[in-house]
Amino acid sequence: MLAVHLVSFFFTKLQEDPTKKVDRFLHAMRLHDDQLNDISARFQAEMKKGLSAESNAAAAVKMLPTHVRSTPDGSEKGQFMALDFGGSKFKVLQVKVREGMGIRKGGVEMDEKTYRIPKELLTGRGTELFDHVTESLKDFLHERNISLEKKHPLAFTFSFPCEQTALNRGLLLSWSKNFRARGLQGKDVVQVLRDSIDRTGGMDMEVLAMVNDTVATMMTCGFDDQYCQAGLIIGTGTNACYMEELRHVDLVEGDEGRMCVNTEWGAFGDDGALDDFITEFDRDVDAASNNPGKQIFEKMISGMYLGELVRLVVLKMAKVGKLFDGRVSDALRTKGKITTAHVAAMEEYKNGLKNTRTILEELDLSPSDDDCIAVQHISTIVSFRSSNLVAAGLAAILTRIKHNRNRRALRITVGVDGTVYKTHPQYPKRLHKVVRRLLPDCHVRFALSDSGSSKGAALVTAVAQRLASRKRQVDETLSSFKLSQEQLQLVKARMRAGLEAGLKSKGPSAIKMLPSFVYHTPDGTENGKYLALDLGGTNFRAMLVNFKKSLQQNVRLYHKIYTIPLEIMQGTGEELFDHLAQCIGDFLDYMGMKNARLPAGFTFSFPCEQTAIDTGTLVSWTKGFKATNCEGHDVVSMLREAIKRRNEFELDIAAVVNDTVGTMMSCAYEDPQCEIGLIAGTGTNVCYMEEVKNIEKTELQKGKMCVNTEWGGLGDDGSLDDIITPYDTEVDQNSVNPGKQRFEKLTSGMYLGEIVRQVLLDLTRGGLLFRGHVTETLKTPGIFQTKYLSQIESDRLALLQVRSILQQLGLNSNCDDSIIVKEVCGAVSRRAAQLCGAGMAAVVDKIRENRGLDHLNITVGVDGALYKLHPHFSGVLQKTTKALAPRCDVTFLPSEEGSGKGAALITAVARKKKEI
Ligand code: BG6
Ligand code: BG6
Ligand code: GLC
Ligand code: GLC
Repeated sequence: MLAVHLVSFFFTKLQEDPTKKVDRFLHAMRLHDDQLNDISARFQAEMKKGLSAESNAAAAVKMLPTHVRSTPDGSEKGQFMALDFGGSKFKVLQVKVREGMGIRKGGVEMDEKTYRIPKELLTGRGTELFDHVTESLKDFLHERNISLEKKHPLAFTFSFPCEQTALNRGLLLSWSKNFRARGLQGKDVVQVLRDSIDRTGGMDMEVLAMVNDTVATMMTCGFDDQYCQAGLIIGTGTNACYMEELRHVDLVEGDEGRMCVNTEWGAFGDDGALDDFITEFDRDVDAASNNPGKQIFEKMISGMYLGELVRLVVLKMAKVGKLFDGRVSDALRTKGKITTAHVAAMEEYKNGLKNTRTILEELDLSPSDDDCIAVQHISTIVSFRSSNLVAAGLAAILTRIKHNRNRRALRITVGVDGTVYKTHPQYPKRLHKVVRRLLPDCHVRFALSDSGSSKGAALVTAVAQRLASRKRQVDETLSSFKLSQEQLQLVKARMRAGLEAGLKSKGPSAIKMLPSFVYHTPDGTENGKYLALDLGGTNFRAMLVNFKKSLQQNVRLYHKIYTIPLEIMQGTGEELFDHLAQCIGDFLDYMGMKNARLPAGFTFSFPCEQTAIDTGTLVSWTKGFKATNCEGHDVVSMLREAIKRRNEFELDIAAVVNDTVGTMMSCAYEDPQCEIGLIAGTGTNVCYMEEVKNIEKTELQKGKMCVNTEWGGLGDDGSLDDIITPYDTEVDQNSVNPGKQRFEKLTSGMYLGEIVRQVLLDLTRGGLLFRGHVTETLKTPGIFQTKYLSQIESDRLALLQVRSILQQLGLNSNCDDSIIVKEVCGAVSRRAAQLCGAGMAAVVDKIRENRGLDHLNITVGVDGALYKLHPHFSGVLQKTTKALAPRCDVTFLPSEEGSGKGAALITAVARKKKEI
């Protein structure tokens, strides 16, 4: 009898080795290293796709920027409330972080409470779910006696895919795991949380940072281990994050430093990339899930699905007669009856088989010993596949980091959390082993996050708090440069009053309104060759212009630029004009025209009192010129005398014109509607065609004359004092003409850089910039020229380039400094453009009213480096003019040839008159 039993025992053993049977049945789940390497390579390709701006929209693996730019450095400190939402437990915490790390670790204290989330809330209305979160928060504050009056910074771990544009802003892309609450997809979850805090009421919270659990885990572990550059969750869901080079994160501006990227690797395979590895059981799990077709990789790996995979395999094997003699129970047919905790219990060392039997019996099954061995083996294969897939994903990430850093070998720590990793007895060992096998040249350490993700979230929040407080202080400083619509209306009104006052004959006025003796814009009949001389800023230009009557177009033959050395600008008048004569002589030599006695027009870009077209008495120098013995003298005579002294050539100087007038004329040659000239360059000024009857300084009664407003003087009588900041005052006091040209000093290229420098000095002294170091460079006047401002503010410029410009200027900035410098430049130049816009609105409305028109169409000829080179100045100027003078259609036409062509046109007209 015994013999018969033995024979039958051996017979079944031979025929049906339970583990072999399972191996055969589940061969598709048993992945070899070459398959894992293949999966790893596919995941690397997916990462690239997600990072690139072009392919991100179509990428399954979203590679979400987190705006976390560094792992902990030990300087984090503060006391925070924290919410840990999205894992198997919802927790409210209080976290206290004391500065210090490494040997001085243990600087974090935590107090936490887990709150249940009622099941119906997971799929109910999103607002109700969040109200439950904030009510739990309030309950915690009550229970722990934490002040309700005080403002508490809050760290929010939210373990779902969010598109973050800042640390405290993130749109929920989709729910995953067992959450499906309505009405939140596409919404900013931080705002939803804030709204809910307001609804709950009675507490004051500042939500400073929202982080994914992977990121928080990396930060938690990074507090004790500086090599921790990646975070991994193998819990209800699965996911990983790592520190990527910012230059590879296309979706975020800047290319310097690193940023943590939340890979959302759970979605790997959603586009079919893993189809050849997917089994019928995976398909069934997916089909019965909350989110079919989504999170394919996660469904092969994470705690929410492992038990279910095992149940489906057991069920199928029973159905085909390979288990329980083909018997199946109702419990085994029921979704969710085998959990990940069961899987862990079945694989427990020593007790595993016993546990398996108990579990199966609880499912109303009567397993044989072989059935228990087989089911335990199913568990092993399913959980082994999970750790293998995680290893493949992680291998891809670590390989990428290794390449990024150009290393042959890599030492790195991966921070890990999640119930599967923490509770499954074999999981960590298996995972570590496979990772090390796949990456033989990486030294990988796995650090278990012992204290959950809130510690890390609090560390991120501590940095965010520091940045937010810095931002608040910077914003406060810059707020004095922000002008409201009402303030701009006031500036327009004051400009208008200033124009009117200047037109009156009596008394000095801030705005001089100088007659130009130019009565017409060009009519196209001008012809002949003229010399144009142009003294405007740091350069002197000589130019030969030829107008051909019939073609209505000019040919500029030649021009040459001569710099005016500072010692000449600020020496004696005689020296300055001798220098100009010398330059003219050189130009005529160069052209071979020394004997031609050409008619010449002289653009002289300073305020001149004119009594005729060819005389102009300098009222006062502006823009850094201060040559002696010039103010109060006729500049044409001074030039004539210098030419005489030189005694090399003769010139017939027929006109002296302001650069605004030259610019207007030059543009009017192209567009007859051009009746205004604007300079936004080293200095700023406007001229326009005024009715002569309004100009009390002339006796004429009919027609028009161009008036050089010299609007840069607005405010010299104190009328702008309410908008002038202490930085402007400093710039004014340090200038060669304190108290003068106050409007010009708020708006033009010569001063904007100086204003920026004053603000930077103040911010640095306040410890908000350049780590508080006030360097000699920063103390040097004039380091910020207009061209640098224009470059720094260019939208196309990455922060790294901003940094390199600052470095050229001798300022060593980090990434945050560069952002602030750019903001300061923006605030200063925006105000300048708005003020010019307000001034322009006053001018165009005055012209409209002069003409009794309901609506005016007019063109402004413009020149100047600020207008032409700055990326935003012209746009803001035009927008402001439009807003403040809605009944005028103003076209801004940049002058192509500078004001020299205009001066030559005026000379042509003046000569014609003389001939008549
Ligand atoms: C916890 C974290 O430790 O791990 C959670 O604090 C996280 O934020 C979780 O979501 C992941 O594991 P599980 O198993 O709870 O989903
Ligand atoms: C030039 C004019 O085109 O623009 C000059 O010819 C004028 O006369 C100048 O002064 C203004 O620009 P900036 O930027 O050189 O002051
Ligand atoms: C899911 C979420 C992800 C999270 C992971 C682990 O995959 O989409 O954001 O990190 O679960 O909790
Ligand atoms: C200064 C001058 C003015 C000139 C302007 C632009 O404001 O005073 O005459 O037009 O600069 O160059």
